[in-house]
Amino acid sequence: MNNKKLVFSGVQPTGNLHLGNYLGALKNFVSLQKEMDCIYCVVDLHALTVFQKPNDLQNNVLETVASFVATGLDPNKSIIFNQSAVSGHAELAWIFNCVSRVGWLNRMTQFKDKAGSDKEKASVGLYIYPNLMAADILLYKATHVPVGADQKQHLELSRDIAQKFNNDFNCKNFFPLPEPLISKNISRVMSLRDATKKMSKSEESDYSRINLKDSADEINKKIKKAKSDSSSIPDNLKNLEKKPEAYNLINIYSEISKKNLDKVLKEMSGKEYSFLKNKLAEILIDEIIPVGKEIKKLLSDKPYLVQILKKGTEKANIIAEENLKNIREKVGLI
Ligand code: TYM
Repeated sequence: MNNKKLVFSGVQPTGNLHLGNYLGALKNFVSLQKEMDCIYCVVDLHALTVFQKPNDLQNNVLETVASFVATGLDPNKSIIFNQSAVSGHAELAWIFNCVSRVGWLNRMTQFKDKAGSDKEKASVGLYIYPNLMAADILLYKATHVPVGADQKQHLELSRDIAQKFNNDFNCKNFFPLPEPLISKNISRVMSLRDATKKMSKSEESDYSRINLKDSADEINKKIKKAKSDSSSIPDNLKNLEKKPEAYNLINIYSEISKKNLDKVLKEMSGKEYSFLKNKLAEILIDEIIPVGKEIKKLLSDKPYLVQILKKGTEKANIIAEENLKNIREKVGLI
């Protein structure tokens, strides 16, 4: 078996990336780039599981590349490309559709959330989406996958598929069992309006999230309006955990200021939430505004972004084709 460590992760091009994507995924992508070979994919085929206007999809793919680069990914170090440009993803996904079990997919909570109450109307693609995600990772035999906590269950399914393939085709260790890399401190950034839900592109109210392209004024307003609490900030974690909205804000503050939660609570305990909100808006503006500016600058040079994808696709395709050749052989395809 090849023991080489390889990182793979993907982001859907479905519009504005937000603070959840940034803290839960993108920042880790950037730090991993320093230690390991990394492949970062704009998963446009995944986006198709819910209808996208073709022009919007094209723009969103480029905006996602711009966001990757603006947060610090270096296209000369990491492979950056779009999923649909490497046809091996779709081919391996089909093979995995035949390895994966209906019972496994029926357990996926994200399908239940996204399909809502009328599952009959959800696309078949949305249902089998986790098999495509397994194909994304295993097409490159990736060993490490940085993601937010919401993707953990899909990662477990990828491991099950890898294991079943290795057993079915009698090829022990052919596919590695990919490890999720989930940030310990902030694996799930919650909505600013309802801390029982994760911050998400699909929540209706824009006040629920901080987008990477928000202006300083918007960040200020959103943080001021964020749900919190009428009492003062507690002095210990146990009491803080009973207030999910406040916990979310303090957690974001802790992550961005790089101070641990105990230290933040010492600094803030007994104070009003307006004190925390002022401080949080300040550090968020310092962190996010330069990223947003860079995204907008990069978006004004679309040929450069297309070139990044083209180069990345060439590199990804070489690895994918080599692995696919072996996969086809194992399965018995001529
Ligand atoms: P997507 O596009 O929804 O999100 C991209 C990344 O951002 C993380 N994330 C969050 N982290 C913390 N708090 C939040 N509120 C939050 N919202 C999003 C996600 O966990 C993810 O890491 N299925 C994936 C894309 C994908 C993929 C893959 C990922 C397709 N193939 C292969 C890894 C490996 C998705 O829809 O992510």
